[in-house]
Amino acid sequence: MIIKSAEFVISNSDYKLCPQDGKPEYAFIGRSNVGKSSLINMLTNKKGLAMTSSKPGKTTLINHFIINNQWYLVDLPGYGYARRSKEGREKLREIIEDYILERTELVNLFVLVDVRHEAQLIDLEFMEWLGENGVPFSIVFTKADKLSALRLQTNVEAYKDKLIESWDELPPIFITSSERKQGRDEVIDYIGKIQSQMV
Ligand code: GTP
Ligand code: MG
Repeated sequence: MIIKSAEFVISNSDYKLCPQDGKPEYAFIGRSNVGKSSLINMLTNKKGLAMTSSKPGKTTLINHFIINNQWYLVDLPGYGYARRSKEGREKLREIIEDYILERTELVNLFVLVDVRHEAQLIDLEFMEWLGENGVPFSIVFTKADKLSALRLQTNVEAYKDKLIESWDELPPIFITSSERKQGRDEVIDYIGKIQSQMV
């Protein structure tokens, strides 16, 4: 699939206020600073489309971007940012959880994981929660450029081994680098395949 156009539409703190045109959407979630916004910019080839920051906690709203006038990419706030107040964290949790559970337009959630680190409990528990709630998701490893080829492969294999401990089947897995535009075709084609099955 080719991305011909990508435009920012709206930011919201409540899924009920998100676009009402019923177009399918693909959302990005993961720990704060994992690279969600950067990935959206990489996929759409538009550097400043989603706001990024080297400081965690940048994205605090549900952001909709319309692609080819047909479907949405959705940038979500990150979870697990410890330096936010308890109320702040609770509020974000509510925004994210309500969106994921109630937003019927959500077709697939991409859970982003920094490939440099070993499996983190917060991500594993989040995926468990998705499974319990029947939310379809895929895993996107980010920041692949920060590792050697060998280390990258070792880390991905170790992560799969960890997942196999609690899942019968592995979700689709993508290895990406927004820095090097790695994994772009794979993610876009995956969305394209789902899209073509819907019409
Ligand atoms: P929040 O909105 O705060 O939850 O963060 P986010 O997940 O949207 O992360 P964001 O895209 O803002 O990126 C965080 C930092 O990681 C920025 O400094 C990015 O430049 C950097 N980054 C993101 N993706 C990559 C990547 O693939 N490679 C490298 N080297 N850096 C990356
Ligand atoms: Mg962000």
